[in-house]
Amino acid sequence: MPSFRVETPGRSYDAIVERGAVRRISDFLPAKHGKIFVVTTPDVWDLHRGAFAQIPHNVIFFPGGESKKRLAEVEAMAEQMLAAGADRSSVVVAFGGGIVNDTGGFLAAIFMRGIPVIQVPTTLLAQVDAAVGGKTGVNLVSGKNLLGSFHQPLAVLIDADVLSTLPEREYRAGLYEIIKCGVIRDANLFSLLDEGIAAVLAKEPAVVEQIIATAVRIKAEVVSADEREGGLRRILNFGHTVGHALEAETQYSRFLHGEAVAFGMRVATVLAERVTDLKDAADIDRVIVNYGPIPSLNGVRANNLAKRLASDKKTIQGNVHFVLPVKIGEVTVVSGIDDRVVLESIEAVLSGG
Ligand SMILES: NC(=O)c1ccc[n+]([C@@H]2O[C@H](COP(=O)([O-])OP(=O)(O)OC[C@H]3O[C@@H](n4cnc5c(N)ncnc54)[C@H](O)[C@@H]3O)[C@@H](O)[C@H]2O)c1
Ligand SMILES: [Zn+2]
Repeated sequence: MPSFRVETPGRSYDAIVERGAVRRISDFLPAKHGKIFVVTTPDVWDLHRGAFAQIPHNVIFFPGGESKKRLAEVEAMAEQMLAAGADRSSVVVAFGGGIVNDTGGFLAAIFMRGIPVIQVPTTLLAQVDAAVGGKTGVNLVSGKNLLGSFHQPLAVLIDADVLSTLPEREYRAGLYEIIKCGVIRDANLFSLLDEGIAAVLAKEPAVVEQIIATAVRIKAEVVSADEREGGLRRILNFGHTVGHALEAETQYSRFLHGEAVAFGMRVATVLAERVTDLKDAADIDRVIVNYGPIPSLNGVRANNLAKRLASDKKTIQGNVHFVLPVKIGEVTVVSGIDDRVVLESIEAVLSGG
């Protein structure tokens, strides 16, 4: 089964895409290791605890939810670990969605100045995005993911079997990140998502494995070329500039991350028609819309979104950067776009529905 090497200056490791991979944790533990702490949410644990039957472990429950992705929760988990006998030889297994991967990874990054983590993502979004690449962290009141650390895992175990219990809306939210991968780097993946939509939405096993493996390969390649987002890694932000603004504008409660990214990709596609002379805009838009719908955009004001862009974390020295398609499979990073053009592109997608 496919395995993709992620090579970063500090650590190289494999992202394994394989049904049943969750049961292979012991293959990736260091030769000498102490206690294993599984960081997870109660819902995921109730559904999938059986996967851990073969290895001794302690469970650390994280309540889940974006509002709990905070330093205070990390501290509480660290106290629980210590009370259960954790030391420098302990290993964290982050078993859950992206929030668990980020929070559990960050816990491992700072517990006793850093212990190893194995990432075991259980949402589609976390499998193709959050768990690969070593970004860990929590939110501040002032913004998302503002406190964090790069902490590359020992391995990422991606098991499509766990997706059987994932709610349909969460599954589609993850699919948008895979569409993103197709647009930024792989025209074949894009065609597969376009032509194979019925099989993808029906979760046909072979096609699900293929799209996950392709997206993970792309993420592994991009992170290996640029761990810290100095250059190539920025292409992964396609749809995220406006997507983040939409999430913040709606208090992180109306849209799932992937849904906000879907909106952001549509805006970036309209923008690209004017800025990069993109010819494939209609195809990109059609595929994003076909994987919808996303929740209603009623009441969202273009002006407010445009204002938020200026305060986005990705703003570098006052310039908003947009990742824009040049054609399907290729993007470019552009800054200094006229505010009015940005506003018109947001308005075009808002009014088009
Ligand atoms: N580190 C990165 O590079 C990176 C990249 C993208 C996103 N993220 C982060 O990921 C987070 C979003 O992750 P998410 O979309 O996975 O949300 P999430 O972690 O909240 O998971 C969504 C919901 O699904 C439940 N769930 C998880 N697996 C399940 C399963 N197999 N069956 C049934 N229910 C299951 C969760 O408990 C939760 O209620 C955000 O905080 C975002 O910032 C990080
Ligand atoms: Zn994303």
